[in-house]
Amino acid sequence: MIGKLNHVAIAVPSVSNAADQYKNILGAKVSKPLDLPDHGVKTVFVELDNTKIELLEPIGKNSPIENFLKKNPSGGMHHICYEVPDILKACLKMQKEGATILGSGKPSIGAHGKPVIFIHPKIFNGTLIELEEI
Ligand code: CO
Repeated sequence: MIGKLNHVAIAVPSVSNAADQYKNILGAKVSKPLDLPDHGVKTVFVELDNTKIELLEPIGKNSPIENFLKKNPSGGMHHICYEVPDILKACLKMQKEGATILGSGKPSIGAHGKPVIFIHPKIFNGTLIELEEI
């Protein structure tokens, strides 16, 4: 069912500092920081040949990564995003398999303007998984 790895998201205390590290230490191509207030995050993308790394810094109140950073103050891997061709089909399959879809349980429009769902980490070895329709 799943296709390509779309991105790996890493929560960080500062996307500008993290972007500088990726650029200066690892020689990576990084995007300009982008505020997504509706999603409670500021993002920078590290663009690799085969995938992307999404750096996430919390902004505003009720940011979904605020608590994660409280538990992991220096940052850490937050989620992995896999591409799926049909998000509604993926949703039904996940529910049939006993997975918990976070939030309303239905797809929502994600940070990249595409329909996404997040699956509770408990059934995937502690990894938060995002499925994005591409
Ligand atoms: Co994501």
